[in-house]
Amino acid sequence: MTEQLNWVNDAWKQVTQKINRTSKRIGANFPHASENGEYILEEPQWWTAGFWPGLLWQVYRDTKDETLKELAVECEEKLDAVQHQYYRLDHDMGFMWTLTSVAHYKLLGNQESKRRALLAANLLMGRFNVNGNYIRAWNPWTAGEDNSGIAIIDCMMNLPLLYWASEETGDPRFKGTARRHADMVLENFIRSDGSVHHIVRFDPESGSRIEALGGQGHSPNSAWSRGTAWAIYGLTLSFHYTGEAKYLEAAKKVAHFFISHLSKDFVPDWDFRLPADIDAPKDSSAGAIAACGLLLLADKVIAEESPVYQRAGEKILESLYKNYGDWTGNEEGLVLHGTSHFPERKYMDNPLIYGDYYFVEGLARLNGYKELFW
Ligand code: GLY
Repeated sequence: MTEQLNWVNDAWKQVTQKINRTSKRIGANFPHASENGEYILEEPQWWTAGFWPGLLWQVYRDTKDETLKELAVECEEKLDAVQHQYYRLDHDMGFMWTLTSVAHYKLLGNQESKRRALLAANLLMGRFNVNGNYIRAWNPWTAGEDNSGIAIIDCMMNLPLLYWASEETGDPRFKGTARRHADMVLENFIRSDGSVHHIVRFDPESGSRIEALGGQGHSPNSAWSRGTAWAIYGLTLSFHYTGEAKYLEAAKKVAHFFISHLSKDFVPDWDFRLPADIDAPKDSSAGAIAACGLLLLADKVIAEESPVYQRAGEKILESLYKNYGDWTGNEEGLVLHGTSHFPERKYMDNPLIYGDYYFVEGLARLNGYKELFW
């Protein structure tokens, strides 16, 4: 670690102390957003279910605190009930079982965790639409709704479960499916300026592209910062697993867009492309996700190109620690000022568990823990 990164040790100390404290109240549950200082606990089928156990595994890897391990294992076991409830599963099985079962298997070799993660990978494969080469995102949110043609950029972070499954089993089907989805993303989601669409709708029968939708960003042509962050990290991970230069080039292009749109404090607004009359809230979670992607990207590019991504990743995490971190003891979240869903006016200035998770993953990486759970 360089001299300038002394803050990382302080940050890690604050994180481990705080997680020791908050884990006593949160326990083996599934926090999403913190309100009035306390994390709201969700049902285990919600897409964010993996982040708290994933965070516990990140801290456990360093501290070997058995209490945190037991909570992470208990969360993983609670997810079993969801894995057999077909209607409650969507494409976010990747997020959910990578940060629970894959993490557990990678850290401790647990065979039951491997079985769970392979089952999740098979279920995720089952959502692949062969006509349009996309993994279907969601099930109907309301009775009768047809969203069988919907693909979203976030799914780039679900692909590592498939890459991992191919590596574990030697069966190339999982990786082949992930690559086809990633190729579809290159063609349909990444704009020439490096910004990305959140949602693209296809005709599920013919596979042809119908339209782009605004989703959690402002509008179809705006630039939702968290979607941009999912793209940076997800494309870099696709390069990591396949060695295909096209994914690396796309990751760099999206990273340049992201970095060049950061404000002075290095933490992104919720959307980078807004009408002048909208006072954009920050989304600290987008910063944390992007930082992890940028730090991995820095390790993948040639040496001359590396500092720009490394420095940006470090600056974002430093700002999250110093300007957005809450170390007071009155708040369960680690990182303040996340925006979950601005168009639905949901959690627009709150700590979010995925912001906390990626912040901790980024710190762990700066501390030398480079083995990926993804
Ligand atoms: N995957 C949903 C989100 O980023 O909010």
